[in-house]
Amino acid sequence: MKKVVIVYSGGLDTSVCIPMMRDMYGFDQVVTVTVDVGQPESDLRQAEERAKILGTEHYTVDVKKEFVEDYIFPTIKANGDYQGYPISTSIARPLIALKAVEYADRVGADAFCHGCTGKGNDQFRIEFVLRALGGGRPVIAPMREKNYTRTEEIEYAAQHGIKIEQSTAKIWSIDENLWGRSIEGGLLEEPNYIPPEEIFSWTKGPDTAPNTPTIVEIGFENGVPVSLDGTRMDGLSLVKKMLALAGENGVGRIDIMEDRILGLKVRENYECPAAVALITAHKALEDLVCTKEERAFKSMVDYQWGKLAYEGLWFDPLKEDLDAFINKIQERVVGSVKLRLFKGQAKVAGRTSPFALYSEEMASFDDKSFDQSEMTGALKVHGLQSRMYWSLKKEN
Ligand code: ARG
Repeated sequence: MKKVVIVYSGGLDTSVCIPMMRDMYGFDQVVTVTVDVGQPESDLRQAEERAKILGTEHYTVDVKKEFVEDYIFPTIKANGDYQGYPISTSIARPLIALKAVEYADRVGADAFCHGCTGKGNDQFRIEFVLRALGGGRPVIAPMREKNYTRTEEIEYAAQHGIKIEQSTAKIWSIDENLWGRSIEGGLLEEPNYIPPEEIFSWTKGPDTAPNTPTIVEIGFENGVPVSLDGTRMDGLSLVKKMLALAGENGVGRIDIMEDRILGLKVRENYECPAAVALITAHKALEDLVCTKEERAFKSMVDYQWGKLAYEGLWFDPLKEDLDAFINKIQERVVGSVKLRLFKGQAKVAGRTSPFALYSEEMASFDDKSFDQSEMTGALKVHGLQSRMYWSLKKEN
């Protein structure tokens, strides 16, 4: 009896993996694990139905709360970004793989299978976790190994009773979780093609968004959002509420050229309303409480953190080290930020913190707390080396 756990989304690629595991790889027991990170209900139902038709032992695992608290919150603290993309697909993959490991242990599986192709980023993210924490079980990637064309794959699927509805034959490839929605493929790959309105489902366009701005006040404790307009809420409810509010105002549409892990340059479209709003607010609060040197240093830490998370090295020791630094700074990231959401933009409209390194007295022109004439000494040495450079230049 050989048993395999498929990291299962219920889409075409992972569904095709089911008969393949039996016919081509010799497994007699196939277990499918679908991890709910906030994708549409219809995707979860489709996975369940297909698993039933194809006769697998199926599990749907709801990890939304864990995803928010242990993945989204650290991402907010690190202002998680890669090349202008508020990393979202990237941060869900390690958790999905981790749950597959958990279920493999539970059901006593001999191997893992996933449906990632050989061109994308997700193979790196999922396989890293399966290999690092998966107990040495082999990892099978049929989509990469067999190198099928889409037509061959659809044919194979049809032969095995996997119905290809309109939705799976559609031209866009969509990945969705609570932190973001990615739309790629088809015509969208052409960098000069204007994305049609139909690709968006979380955000309104500037022409349909409300004509009056929405002001929302986000409360933070230790670098994570805890309240909206003074109402305390759990992380999951807060992220969902922010998604709806920012999306309604058209915030979070992103169109970028992205360099994949392999170096492949691709055009990507995202909708990340909650991520854009919450990270904008979080950064504004850091700007208020951090010293000039902390701000400069943290931007480097954030850059490195974003790169590791994008590359799927979520459980890398350097990431743990960076998290330790980030968490120390977050002790002072307490207070609230007012955001103005209006026609595609989330702009900071105000910020306050008990740890603000700002003194109205000192910044004001009327202040007498230090004698301005004492500045003359400092001015005499400022830019000393630059001044020497210029005087030498004049001499020669
Ligand atoms: N390029 C993004 C990433 O690597 C998104 C990939 C999502 N996949 C999709 N089928 N839309 O994180």
